[in-house]
Amino acid sequence: MVNTLQLELGERSYPIHIGAGLISRPDLYQPHIRGRQVMLVSNETVAPLYLHSVREALSGYRLEQVILPDGEEYKTLETLNRIFDALLQNRFNRNCCLVALGGGVIGDITGFAAASYQRGVDFIQLPTTLLAQVDSSVGGKTGVNHALGKNMIGAFHQPRCVLADISTLDTLDNRQLSAGIAEVIKYGLIEDAEFFTWLERTMPRLLTRDTQALVHAIERSCRCKADIVAADEFESGKRALLNLGHTFGHAIETGMGYGNWLHGEGVATGMAMAADLSARHGWISRADVERIRKLLAQAQLPVDPPTDISRDRFLELMAVDKKAMDGGLRLILLEAIGHAKICSDFDTALLHQTLGHELLPTNP
Ligand SMILES: NC(=O)c1ccc[n+]([C@@H]2O[C@H](COP(=O)([O-])OP(=O)(O)OC[C@H]3O[C@@H](n4cnc5c(N)ncnc54)[C@H](O)[C@@H]3O)[C@@H](O)[C@H]2O)c1
Ligand SMILES: [Zn+2]
Repeated sequence: MVNTLQLELGERSYPIHIGAGLISRPDLYQPHIRGRQVMLVSNETVAPLYLHSVREALSGYRLEQVILPDGEEYKTLETLNRIFDALLQNRFNRNCCLVALGGGVIGDITGFAAASYQRGVDFIQLPTTLLAQVDSSVGGKTGVNHALGKNMIGAFHQPRCVLADISTLDTLDNRQLSAGIAEVIKYGLIEDAEFFTWLERTMPRLLTRDTQALVHAIERSCRCKADIVAADEFESGKRALLNLGHTFGHAIETGMGYGNWLHGEGVATGMAMAADLSARHGWISRADVERIRKLLAQAQLPVDPPTDISRDRFLELMAVDKKAMDGGLRLILLEAIGHAKICSDFDTALLHQTLGHELLPTNP
């Protein structure tokens, strides 16, 4: 069974297929590959598990492959260059198609290679982590990290299609699964209180990877992301809501060293911090904060910022975040569970309390 959603972007619209066994189905790739040349990009962990299935499904094409080292620390310009080397050595032309098989790191770096090779070629996303299936593979943000900041070098470039094959999640470890659930919870917090309540009820089934629960969670998440991206592809407004928890989270990821905190873990703690700051303003209740922390903790995610990062270090790291670079710090905060808002008029003194690890007063 395949569940299919469409991301509507005029002639750049594309399908997001969700289901089991999808990467082995030639019929799902064929409509999206123009020429004969296909470059498979994966990493040392994922390639041994799933690359043979993809190669088999695409056996009618001229296949080449690049296998990159595994890890966020390799999401760099140097690694990107290995993809360009392979494309040029094999004389790939503008009709070629890149296929990204892996988590968000492989998806982001392959997407950026596709965005810039010969000023833009096609690519297909085969996300193999929950985080990539519910978030990074959809929406066309691609890029690599710079030593001074995450995702600082990149481009908007939409894939031709996304195949979210839930069978690939079987081999994902529990910590990575939880990191993906952080982004799923994010959609509930941003705009869907009912989905948040569903997650509170269904978390045990998600953690045991119940197929139906996973498909629903991925579908609901992709629907939310696809609608927001369709309304605001280049993030001039509403798309910024998807950054809930991310300015705090990126600060933690960078501050603790890439790879030590997973992206989803940073986002989970970042969302707890955004909830804390929202409650300090009196926009949500203390009980809401507790509900959010409880769901995140139930998903085995961290909710407290590392004490190693001082308030001043937090501020420094948050100022580098690109969302903060164009004119003051903007944060995504909560008006309710299921209703996030873009906010630049928050009270700096309250932000300092959140960053300074001060306990939230019982009666804010
Ligand atoms: N482009 C976007 O809109 C967007 C959105 C969110 C996150 N991101 C980016 O995504 C990245 C995080 O993605 P991620 O969480 O998928 O991390 P990841 O790509 O590093 O994958 C996590 C780990 O799981 C392994 N793995 C992947 N699939 C597996 C499988 N099926 N079985 C076993 N192991 C598997 C990977 O090799 C890696 O070791 C970050 O770089 C983040 O910036 C981008
Ligand atoms: Zn994210």
